[in-house]
Amino acid sequence: MQFGVYGLRPEEKKYFAQWAEANAVTLRYHDDNLGAQKAADFAGEDAVVTLQTTPYPAAVFAEMKKAGVQYIALRNVGMDNVPFPVLAANGIKLSNVPAYSPQSIAEFAVSLTLQLVRGFGTLNRAIASHQYTEAMHLTGIELGTLTIGVVGTGRIGASAVQLFQGFGCTVLGYDPYPNPQLKNKIEYVDDLADLWPRVDVIDLHIPGTKENTHLIGAPEIAQMKPGVFLINTARGNLIDTNALLQGLADDHIGGAGIDTFEYENEVIDQWNRNEAPANKAYQTLMADPRVIFTPHIAYHTESAVENMVTVSLEQAKAFVQTGTAPHAVDVAKL
Ligand code: NAD
Ligand code: COI
Repeated sequence: MQFGVYGLRPEEKKYFAQWAEANAVTLRYHDDNLGAQKAADFAGEDAVVTLQTTPYPAAVFAEMKKAGVQYIALRNVGMDNVPFPVLAANGIKLSNVPAYSPQSIAEFAVSLTLQLVRGFGTLNRAIASHQYTEAMHLTGIELGTLTIGVVGTGRIGASAVQLFQGFGCTVLGYDPYPNPQLKNKIEYVDDLADLWPRVDVIDLHIPGTKENTHLIGAPEIAQMKPGVFLINTARGNLIDTNALLQGLADDHIGGAGIDTFEYENEVIDQWNRNEAPANKAYQTLMADPRVIFTPHIAYHTESAVENMVTVSLEQAKAFVQTGTAPHAVDVAKL
């Protein structure tokens, strides 16, 4: 059995090598993302194991079909970059890794919140420029005094709820499918309009579907408390960036923790080359000390990387051996 590994990251290599040896499977490593390959490039590969945040172009699935590759195992959770109808049309089966480490992302979201409420953006700049008295007078807010609105209480949202409650926060939740594990633990609101005016921090943990695009825009921000903090470790398209910038300019938004950015696809090549992105919205956010910006790394812990690699490889193996996999997703229905 042989799998093609696409979008290989150096930190994944040891886990791939260990699994391949233990399972007697050959892995062909490709640093490139899935996109420009032709059928011949997939020769000998029984399945493809892939990780990328940029969109998967439709044409590559036709090339896979020509090469007889029927299975794709994603190494990540989010599938917003996958054109499901194209996979269905090419008879390609797909799996993801739905829970490689919800804790990793939840901890990161809480960490962004802690940094915002203690003014770390301002603090770091003041200390770096020897403005120690500014740092000494900067007065923070204790997390436990705040009410947090968690939007999406699935795997990651539920972990975030638990962590915020550990700090003594009051947590409100919104999810069209409330999590039975959180019954009697948090107050669920019936719709988002009830949530916006009641919370000090909004923490997003929902998929970046078409329906969820710009879930937060100018009308929603207007309903929020002045000084609200926004945390987005889910997907960039959930927040209308222009509305975010305006909310910061108006001082209606007190700060933002942005790990997932609406224009990520425009800046990722520059990130990969360690160059400063030319995108104006990015530059404005980066210049604002009330914003903590990270390049889509909330997930990135040792446990997460190990699970992403090993669980995705297990899916690929199950696909090849049985035609299905424990985390197969129904591309025809999505
Ligand atoms: P999940 O499927 O366990 O939970 C998502 C929840 O969101 C579900 O309960 C669903 O009912 C709810 N939901 C969907 N639309 C909603 C809406 N409009 N309002 C309220 N709730 C809504 O998924 P998860 O494992 O918790 O992951 C959530 C998202 O986190 C993923 O889709 C992915 O985009 C993102 N993610 C980001 C990183 C990162 O490194 N930044 C890593 C992994 C996942
Ligand atoms: C996910 O798993 O959905 C993420 O956002 C992580 C990223 C590397 C794709």
